[in-house]
Amino acid sequence: MAHPIAVSLLVLGLSVTPVLAAEQDPNTGFVIAPGWEIVRNNCIACHSASLVTQNSGDRAHWLSLIRWMQETQGLWQLDDSSENTILEYLSSYYGPKEGTRRPALRADQLPPNPYRPSKT
Ligand code: HEC
Repeated sequence: MAHPIAVSLLVLGLSVTPVLAAEQDPNTGFVIAPGWEIVRNNCIACHSASLVTQNSGDRAHWLSLIRWMQETQGLWQLDDSSENTILEYLSSYYGPKEGTRRPALRADQLPPNPYRPSKT
């Protein structure tokens, strides 16, 4: 039988684990943060917002996509201020995957598995 304090720590740990979800616009799924409306106004005319939100990368990645769409897909020119806002927003909220995700826990950092069958 586990020590009662260990049990209560485990319960506490489980109850605080869920990460606070960022608020999202229900229509597009965009994270609501500074600049999101400029992104909405410029980035969902030709394809769904999910094409944007499924992508991720640093500022240079997003800039290269914008230039590619401007050169080959008919995306209009963005004024410098809007372009900067869009790049800041996307690289912050849809940034490089390795930077936004914590490394996996090592096995010895995981809590004991409560469902593991006891000794047979
Ligand atoms: C004038 C039309 C148009 C607008 C406006 C537009 N795009 Fe695109 N975009 C495209 C087309 C066409 C594709 C490729 C076709 C597809 O996959 O549906 C594409 C593809 C993408 C992709 C997927 C790229 C990949 O590697 O698969 C992303 C991400 C993207 N757009 C982001 C954006 C962002 C961010 C904006 C706003 C700055 C934007 N788009 C605005 C036309 C547009």
